[in-house]
Amino acid sequence: MTRAAILALALFAGFGAQAAEGPAVPAQKWSFKAPFGVYDRAELQRGYQVVSEICASCHTVSLLRYRNLAEIGFSAAEVKAIAAAEKVQDGPNDKGEMFERTALPHDPFKKPFANEQAARAAFNGAYPPDLSLMAKARPNGPDYLHALMTGYGDAPSSVKMGEGLHYNKFFPGGQIAMPPPLADGQVNYTDGTKATVDRMSRDVTVFLMWTAEPRLEDRHRLGLKVILFLVVLTGFFIVVKRKVWASLH
Ligand code: HEC
Repeated sequence: MTRAAILALALFAGFGAQAAEGPAVPAQKWSFKAPFGVYDRAELQRGYQVVSEICASCHTVSLLRYRNLAEIGFSAAEVKAIAAAEKVQDGPNDKGEMFERTALPHDPFKKPFANEQAARAAFNGAYPPDLSLMAKARPNGPDYLHALMTGYGDAPSSVKMGEGLHYNKFFPGGQIAMPPPLADGQVNYTDGTKATVDRMSRDVTVFLMWTAEPRLEDRHRLGLKVILFLVVLTGFFIVVKRKVWASLH
């Protein structure tokens, strides 16, 4: 076989493998994606509502502390109330026993399972991962998260589904242990927004992008300052260059 033929075959096999991975993840528009983009506060707050009312029954967002919610526009009183609605384990006390208390703003976001083994036992061995950094842990994270949330459907007849698995065309391999987490109208958004699956997927994605990169806006602001600085510096150099060369002409 010639080298070209081998290369062509390898390429073909490569394409074949990619096709088995499922369709490409559609690109979405995100307010934070532009060079100086920012997070939309309303999306962030709605995203928190989705995480706390739906995803938190299986996933934790361990890097989030309740007090961090002040950074996305919740007031100090709201943060206190959000934390106070949760119970956390604390201790040991003087008798060496663990005890439950209401959560405080400095507590980390709750964990739905006592440990990884308990979670795996509940899902046939699969593990609902910590969502804190998920938006950064997958290629095209935000687009992928949105696609995953909206990618459930009936399996094609050619696919043999494993036990306890759900067909999702955007999950590598097409079969995921997570049941479809969103359904239209599943949350009552406090700001009155209609809770469609698409809307909730976007909001939860924006929120998880923020937990993965809370300093994104600072980074963008710094970028703007650096560019302004370079513009001014360039102007300055042009003036100096003209002055220096004027005497040499
Ligand atoms: C009923 C429990 C349950 C709920 C509710 C749930 N998940 Fe999951 N999730 C799982 C399990 C189990 C897995 C592991 C799936 C696997 O490995 O097959 C998972 C996996 C994931 C993954 C990882 C996918 C990957 O590429 O590895 C993401 C992201 C995710 N869930 C996001 C969410 C979001 C966002 C919500 C809320 C809207 C949510 N989940 C609600 C159980 C749940």
